[in-house]
Amino acid sequence: MKRIAVLGSGFGSNLQALMDAQSAGVLGGEIVLVVANNPCVAIERAQRAGIPTLTLPLDDLRDHAKRAQWEAQLADGVAAADPDLVVLAGWMVILRGPMLDRFGDRMINLHPALLPDDASDIVITSRGPRPVFRGAHAVRDALAAETDLAGASVHWVTAQVDVGTVIESVEVPILPDDTEESLHARIGVVERVLLPRVVAKVMDSLRH
Ligand code: GRF
Repeated sequence: MKRIAVLGSGFGSNLQALMDAQSAGVLGGEIVLVVANNPCVAIERAQRAGIPTLTLPLDDLRDHAKRAQWEAQLADGVAAADPDLVVLAGWMVILRGPMLDRFGDRMINLHPALLPDDASDIVITSRGPRPVFRGAHAVRDALAAETDLAGASVHWVTAQVDVGTVIESVEVPILPDDTEESLHARIGVVERVLLPRVVAKVMDSLRH
């Protein structure tokens, strides 16, 4: 069975979708580790399901030395689980060195926006070219820009934030009365179908 590590420090609804897909026998792999940088619901979900967890608090993001040390510890912890794939789902800390060095060829990220395959600021959609929203506030930024199309993407992780070949993305139309909450909720529904499907696809490709 292929091994999957999930990094996520939030509510863990996408982790739950992966666990449900595993239970249903359609994930094509086993979640062997869940990692968070703070105690969170994602960790509680994993513990309830009997999945090994690792919580590695990072107190000061701006202390470069401590941050590098923390990322080395993180990479060691993930490596100990020997994953074939590392999935970032609700992971909010930018990975800079050791994680990319060791897992850069097998790490994917879920992002609540449409993304191009490269660092471009424009993504081609079914409605034509649209602006790209990266970073932690992509949903808020899309609303602020008064664009008409949001979405969800899963892409290979690179050293650039939210840049990397897109494996699959799904468009989510923005409605006139949308708030950040309502839009993010609709994107979330799409994400929880998209992520397990993409992971299953990647698992399948690893078998061949
Ligand atoms: C998702 O919207 C994901 O795209 C973003 O953070 C959210 C995670 O939600 N990066 P959850 O923790 O899986 O519920």
